[in-house]
Amino acid sequence: STPSLLILPGDGIGPEVMAEVVRIIDWFGEKRGLKFDVTTALVGGAAYDKHGVPLSDETMAKAQEVDAVLLGAVGGPKYDVLDFSVKPERGLLRLRKEMDLFANLRPAQCFDALADFSSLKKDVVAGLDIMIVRELTSGIYFGEPRGIITEGNERVGINTQRYTESEIRRAAIAAFELAMKRNKKLCSMEKANVMESGILWRDVVTEVSADYPEVELSHMYADNGAMQLVRAPKQFDVIVTDNLFGDVLSDCAAMLTGSLGMLPSASLGAPMANGRPKAMYEPVHGSAPDIAGQGKANPIACILSFAMALRYSFDEGAEATRLEQSIENVLADGVRTADLLADEGVTPVSTSGMGDAILAALDAS
Ligand code: NAI
Ligand code: MG
Repeated sequence: STPSLLILPGDGIGPEVMAEVVRIIDWFGEKRGLKFDVTTALVGGAAYDKHGVPLSDETMAKAQEVDAVLLGAVGGPKYDVLDFSVKPERGLLRLRKEMDLFANLRPAQCFDALADFSSLKKDVVAGLDIMIVRELTSGIYFGEPRGIITEGNERVGINTQRYTESEIRRAAIAAFELAMKRNKKLCSMEKANVMESGILWRDVVTEVSADYPEVELSHMYADNGAMQLVRAPKQFDVIVTDNLFGDVLSDCAAMLTGSLGMLPSASLGAPMANGRPKAMYEPVHGSAPDIAGQGKANPIACILSFAMALRYSFDEGAEATRLEQSIENVLADGVRTADLLADEGVTPVSTSGMGDAILAALDAS
């Protein structure tokens, strides 16, 4: 049956970048026979304006039933005054929680044409293509007990790192499955030297590896991992790590490659009846109120998020590569949105101008 997509453009530049993704989805339908059953709905401030909530029950139900959700961005200054219970971000949190999206995939990919943008030396990052899998729903951000208590005459801040075997196992399986679709190389990061949860993490990941004999597994302490990511990031392919270390390591890895306007992400949950994982794809950036409505936003992060959907939800790896290669070609030709401009002499293209260029490159592919 036709694969289904729920598109949630959201707020600010969300709808602007999503409009370019929709043109690309249409291109795949017309030129490659890849049809999707697309539903579009509101999320964030846009949903609040219409329904008084940042995500309606109807949209939540739809998200549970589709093969993949594609989200733009939510939030904006207009909504800062709202009560926490109806803030735009709550729409996103509800999706992540109710879909139980426990594996957050953050690629760090360096397009050669943008290697100068990195704060690292060009040869360290040129051609970089790694993926960090961060456990997203457990660990120290959620563990009990937590709170600030008084002990004697001072306050004590408490958080608890707590992982069950099954939480580690499902994150590890997601990472091994990914490694199988990529280069069959996985590095697990924890601090088994000083943390009990780290010992268990290493144990369970090693257990799971028995089911993936083709994948070369290594273990690394997360602090060394941070160092290695900056020193020689190309030694990695897929990295799997817990919620806290993953938060820090994925932000660190992201900045190996330059602009926020280029970074996609995916959040995956348990397999559905049809074998596909529950999935939501979204750019890492927010709604960028400072440039919203001006046609300046870079649509590439959102377009690359759709490429991830092609690869990880729809098993269309070759088509995902076609799309990524088209983006690479456009960048190599010197086409730049304003956020990618280092050189004053170059005139930036608009959001739709970048979309036009990518569509032309797809036509030529
Ligand atoms: P932001 O990511 O929206 O913007 C940070 C800076 O990067 C801004 O200068 C912006 O113009 C630029 N930028 C971001 N995406 C860009 C793109 N595609 N093309 C060109 N430039 C781009 O983060 P900020 O400013 O901290 O937050 C703005 C709003 O977005 C807030 O309401 C925040 O809560 C929300 N937000 C939403 C997220 C989401 O929906 N997943 C994630 C992060 C923030
Ligand atoms: Mg972070």
